Amino acid sequence: MVKLLFPLLAISTAVVCYIYFRPPPPLPELDYSKWWGPTERQARQDRSVRPFNVSFSKEMIQDLKWRLQNHQPFTPPLEGVAFEYGFNTDTLQPWLDYWADRYPFEERQEFLNKYPHYKTNIQGLDIHFIRVKPKVSFGVQLVPMLLCHGWPGSVREFYEAIPFLTAISNDRNFALDLIIPSMPGYGFSDAAVRPGLGAVEIAIVFKNLMRRLGFQKFYFQGGDWGAFVGSSMVTLFPEDILGYHTNMVFSTAPTVSALTAIGSIYTPLIVEDKYADRLYPYFMKFLPNIVQETGYLHLQATKPDTVGVALSDSPAALLAYILEKFSTYTNMDNRYLADGGLEKFYTKDQLIDNLMLYWSTNTITTSMRLYAETFNKRVADMRLDEIPTPVPTWALQARHELSFLPPWMIRFKYPNLLNATMLDDGGHFVALEMPEVFANDVLNAVKAFRDYHHSNLEV
Ligand SMILES: *[C@@H]1O[C@H](CO)[C@@H](O)[C@H](O)[C@H]1NC(C)=O
Ligand SMILES: *[C@@H]1O[C@H](CO)[C@@H](O)[C@H](O)[C@H]1NC(C)=O
Repeated sequence: MVKLLFPLLAISTAVVCYIYFRPPPPLPELDYSKWWGPTERQARQDRSVRPFNVSFSKEMIQDLKWRLQNHQPFTPPLEGVAFEYGFNTDTLQPWLDYWADRYPFEERQEFLNKYPHYKTNIQGLDIHFIRVKPKVSFGVQLVPMLLCHGWPGSVREFYEAIPFLTAISNDRNFALDLIIPSMPGYGFSDAAVRPGLGAVEIAIVFKNLMRRLGFQKFYFQGGDWGAFVGSSMVTLFPEDILGYHTNMVFSTAPTVSALTAIGSIYTPLIVEDKYADRLYPYFMKFLPNIVQETGYLHLQATKPDTVGVALSDSPAALLAYILEKFSTYTNMDNRYLADGGLEKFYTKDQLIDNLMLYWSTNTITTSMRLYAETFNKRVADMRLDEIPTPVPTWALQARHELSFLPPWMIRFKYPNLLNATMLDDGGHFVALEMPEVFANDVLNAVKAFRDYHHSNLEV
């Protein structure tokens, strides 16, 4: 064994040296105005920004209730099994009863409309967004920030955090002007009609959205797909992004994968003791967990339209499929709880609001296509994770997030990492789960970004 260790270390060091000193690839050539909508609309482009209201029609609600009440009998779960085989069907019925009989549709519609919504057409797609602009007094500067959700979330994830994010405080000489778009193909945003709209291309769409709203430079916050869009944006448009806050740091760069693997031979080489269990044992625990929980990802990256038929036809299926993710991705230990632990973290209304944005718009299929449009050779060949960006960056790493990187490895891609906040709890949907903690971290980040720019001004 010991005899094997030396050559193994030598080989891995050689591999890391090779990929580490390999120069980063050039930026990919992309069409910054590619048309994703129906071709016939290209001739009469509409640049207006129109107010929009969320509205649940009577017919939609009636049909939804009928489907919730008329599903096939569920297969009972196996004896002694909680969520290990997926959403426990004993737990499913009470959710469906609630959605059909007690979820207050009108009240929730009103709640969803509590912030101003808009739509505007970008590159052929009507893009929906929420805009929350606080009123500020003289001496307080409004600074724009784009917040970007992921799958299976939506703009709904930010509702509880918005009042904290837009609060005016004597401790700050700025306030956030929030722009919160729905991803193309999610909720009220149009889906592309032709292939190729992945996370990198969405970064272009959202940059163009910000230009449409009059913002040349802005801050960006994102987790999940929002983090893929964010990291693409700071790579393609470093001049435009004043600071990048992310609650999901990850890297597909070979250096990072190789170092992480080497760390399983000797952990202290890679990560401080107190954070080691977020990543190690890598081959015995971390990777098996990821593999066990990401079957959906492979499916959606290959055949989204097939599973989409089932999910867009059955609200029971949609609920089970999406809430299973809210259960395990909030905390993997929720798998061993009969109710998936969902209501330890969220209310039924919060989670069903999110489902309503998928169901009422029938966008589950187009939302899942994002996996196929991003996890493919075309995007992998761009090697964007290997191109460092000068944009000042701030990472928020929740205890139960799916990915973890020690700060020194985050700096490969983000050399101007200003801080990496390590939370002792919290999961993948941290904005929804811990809105105040999330918002305070974002505000601390923006303050640090502003200080960074001031101290870097040429005098
Ligand atoms: C949205 O709803 C408000 C309040 O009911 C109404 O005043 C407004 O005209 C509506 N806007 C649109 C675009 O439907
Ligand atoms: C920066 O990160 C450290 C480590 O988690 C944390 O203790 C600290 O509070 C963070 N700084 C700010 C200003 O949030």
